[in-house]
Amino acid sequence: MKYTFSKDFFWGAATSATQSEGTVKNDGKGENIWDYSSKVFNYRFFEGVTTKDTSKFYTDYKQDIQNMADINFNSFRTSISWSRLFPKGIGEINQAAVAFYQDVFDELNKKGIKPFVNLYHFDMPMDLQELGGFENRKVIDAYKEYASTCFKLFGDKVGYWFTFNEPMIPAEAGYLHDRHYPYVVDFKRAAQVLHNIILAHCEAVKVFRQENYFGKIGIIMDVIPVYPRSENPADLYAAEMADLFYTRSLNDAVLKGKYPEKLITVLKEYGQLPEDIRSEDIELIQQTKIDLLGINYYRPRRVKARESLPNPNGVFSPEWFYDNYEMPGRRMNTSRGIEIYPKGLYDIAQKIQHEYENIDWFVSENGIGIQDEENFIQDGMVQDDYRIEFLQEHLVWLHRAMKEGSNCLGYHMWTSVDCWSWINAYKNRYGFYRLDLETGEKTVKKSGLWFKQVVAENGFEVQEKIEVI
Ligand code: FCB
Repeated sequence: MKYTFSKDFFWGAATSATQSEGTVKNDGKGENIWDYSSKVFNYRFFEGVTTKDTSKFYTDYKQDIQNMADINFNSFRTSISWSRLFPKGIGEINQAAVAFYQDVFDELNKKGIKPFVNLYHFDMPMDLQELGGFENRKVIDAYKEYASTCFKLFGDKVGYWFTFNEPMIPAEAGYLHDRHYPYVVDFKRAAQVLHNIILAHCEAVKVFRQENYFGKIGIIMDVIPVYPRSENPADLYAAEMADLFYTRSLNDAVLKGKYPEKLITVLKEYGQLPEDIRSEDIELIQQTKIDLLGINYYRPRRVKARESLPNPNGVFSPEWFYDNYEMPGRRMNTSRGIEIYPKGLYDIAQKIQHEYENIDWFVSENGIGIQDEENFIQDGMVQDDYRIEFLQEHLVWLHRAMKEGSNCLGYHMWTSVDCWSWINAYKNRYGFYRLDLETGEKTVKKSGLWFKQVVAENGFEVQEKIEVI
């Protein structure tokens, strides 16, 4: 069976500044929360690897871009590091950063690889975090200034802009679940951060429109489709609440222009509405429309009705309404402890098609992180057949969704060269290219060569039809 995609389908991969660039002495980069926390809270990071030593895109970008061209990428997403461009988050611009990003975008364009550029990928400049990060409205103004500067400086080289990557994560991981700095655990503050991030997104889109740049602007979301254990009303309620908190809170605001009524009712009932929500905010959210949506998809969320009552004196959280459900027989990626469920991508596509006006979208991240990948090296190459299979299965489901009318415009794998993960550092490898941490060498994996062919043929053939139920 042959799966063919459209001629102008985006094929490529994504990374982010903090996860790939690394730093060199005197590069003028200011510190962000990851530089700070991976140093000061070093024990929280796998084998203590800090942001200083990430995959050296800052120095290797020419070779890295050549490597992308070698396997036929026609597009590639990275982010601009806010603290590289504005070492203090606002004010003085680092000219070395301007030159670097200009050269990166020129180099990509020269090689026929469209730059997809994201502005914020979890990396708050430290000076702004000290002012309260996104809890402080002054930081929204600073972000607006940063966004507008990026459009001005690079607008003639970049046709695809994104305001945020996974905007839920800085709020949820940084202010509720103790995973990202500043390690605050407080639902109400997390909700305020999320609201302010949505406002920052809207402000950036507004500037982009006002100043009339060419190209498209959008946002990258991590959508985790929710599946109830059963049709029992208690399980269905659990699923509805998980979806309400983790997906609809954000998706409805960004894509439908308003927060779900039910969310507001629940937050009021529990006294958890953020303090500072103004009527002009609601108007701004209502007026803001994006052109292109990116979806990061890694795993499903299976839930069931709670089996115990939440501690009424504990910390309010979405988990008060559901328990995670371990479905018997689920397929696991044991390196990450997450389920593999390719059909989830189809379900997301359906949701976008039927609930979000079939907006133009693309898969902005999808991939598989594998621990101890060196064990799969044979004849100098990682033989990552599991990755090929993973990608194929997801693409088959995507293909089906597109046949049924979904406006999906492309597919980006996470990632091109193995890069640094938040907390897990280099534990799990995701790339089409292997990075040897000792020598710095980057070598193509079997999946990279497979991808090269997929792009050349705009699709792939699978011998036996991959199971699609
Ligand atoms: C996503 C993040 C990305 C990367 C992948 C593995 O949630 O957007 O930065 O770490 O996970």
